[in-house]
Amino acid sequence: GKTRYYKFDIKLQTVTRLCHTKSIVTVNGLFPGPQITAQEGDRLLIEVVNHVPNNITLHWHGIRQLGSGWADGPAYVTQCPIQTGQTYVYNFTIIGQRGTLLWHAHISWLRSTLYGPIIIIPKPDDSYPFANPYKEVPIILGEWWNGDPEAIISEALQAGRGPNVSDAYTINGLPGPLYNCSAKDTFKLTVKTGKTYLLRMINAALDEELFFSIANHSLTVVEVDAVYVKPFHTDTLLIAPGQTTNVLLETKPDYPKATFFMAARPYFTGSGTFDNSTAAGILEYEYQAPSINSPSLISISPKDIPLLKPSLPPLNDIALVTSFQKSLRSLATTQFPCNVPQTVDRRFFFTVGLGTRPCPKNRTCQGPNGAQFSASVNNVSFTLPTTALLQAHFFGQANGIYTTDFPTNPPFSFDYTGTPPHDTVVNCGTKVVELAFNTSVELVMQDTSLLGTDSHPLHLHGFNFFVVGQGFGNYDPNKHPPNFNLVDPVERNTVGVPSGGWVAVRFLADNPGVWFMHCHLELHTSWGLRMAWVVMDGELPRQKLPPPPSDLPKC
Ligand code: C2O
Repeated sequence: GKTRYYKFDIKLQTVTRLCHTKSIVTVNGLFPGPQITAQEGDRLLIEVVNHVPNNITLHWHGIRQLGSGWADGPAYVTQCPIQTGQTYVYNFTIIGQRGTLLWHAHISWLRSTLYGPIIIIPKPDDSYPFANPYKEVPIILGEWWNGDPEAIISEALQAGRGPNVSDAYTINGLPGPLYNCSAKDTFKLTVKTGKTYLLRMINAALDEELFFSIANHSLTVVEVDAVYVKPFHTDTLLIAPGQTTNVLLETKPDYPKATFFMAARPYFTGSGTFDNSTAAGILEYEYQAPSINSPSLISISPKDIPLLKPSLPPLNDIALVTSFQKSLRSLATTQFPCNVPQTVDRRFFFTVGLGTRPCPKNRTCQGPNGAQFSASVNNVSFTLPTTALLQAHFFGQANGIYTTDFPTNPPFSFDYTGTPPHDTVVNCGTKVVELAFNTSVELVMQDTSLLGTDSHPLHLHGFNFFVVGQGFGNYDPNKHPPNFNLVDPVERNTVGVPSGGWVAVRFLADNPGVWFMHCHLELHTSWGLRMAWVVMDGELPRQKLPPPPSDLPKC
């Protein structure tokens, strides 16, 4: 592979959406941020220079970072932040991956404006497992706040309550015509008739899983999280924050000029307050002069075709989501095998969910019953340390920074789908799980539904996992494992733990380092729904984490 160099200047830029003008943190003044394009096998050198008052880190979401854990990016996990005026070069090689991923800031809520696509093209002699598309188009979904997301989350955390929701969802940074004062900020994709387009869909929103569809067009899913899947047709996609989905769009053979809405809006299984507004973009057929051989073109004049709206499913369409997720299967071919671990060395059962914590004595909290909102894994609400876990691990200085007693099971169990117990105690701490090199892990994550009814898109850094089972209700270790899919489970880096249900994943801990795992709903991460795995070095030199680069920021 070759070496590709990118310069990312983190700087403020004035941007207007919904008639609100504000200064946002950007890469090179762009919103959304620049696209990174590379080929499988390439080395990337991304020089990040921080010109803003905020501390910054960037994360290459879904890149495995084999042997390059120092470049992963989560603040206080693999690195200390890049402070104002400082520079850090992220240096990593893309090994064994091709497809669509994303990069984003990984500190506080800065990823609300700092994000962009990563496109990894296959090696020159590897083709797609589908016909070559006529054109490829990245479509990145996001959120827009009229206010400052950094201030919104810090005030909410201080008050122990939920924060304000965003003011709009966006398609490639644009909210579209269904919002007030936004018609001129509409993403438009112009297409030709009778062609196949590869849409590289990315959900970079902070806090919502999103449905996406295009009026009168079916989509063929061919890849998720940069891993090919068995192709299937669907009218609607569900994409959780942190997930990516490649789809083929076949344009109709016979529209001379027509426009259709594409739209994205949340999937939300709860009741109560949510923002049900819709981001919209436009798919526009380019005008082509009718030819004598296609009389059908002459019969349709532009005026005859109204702007068609897609029929998005109800906000809480659990049945659709369940069937969408069941359709996701690895290709499992000789060229693209499914390497799901067939045996398990260590089993973990994690409860994930929202709850409350007592309000600190010197404060008043606006959460339920005067408590503060909290989120936890096995009742541990993870506290970020003041120095990076990876450095502490590498230099043998864990003492006082983290402990290795992260519980492998919840402290007590109950009927997770029934009436929750009201005496749940959430502990705070910086606890990790240590794994020997090459441990085969099975992890079952059960939503507790203690408070709120969101599903939790759990994201694991440093690995892809295989989704071997999922269901609603309580996980049963006797009943469910015999039905696990060990043949063609989907392989990905972010999976939704369904509200009131569970998901089982397997991965092989073959990448030494410290790897963050957290809910990719940024609010839940802020509340503590996060933890870390410490994967120890193996015996061989290539199984050891190399020392940190000399420009690694200090805390
Ligand atoms: Cu996309 Cu830890 O994040």
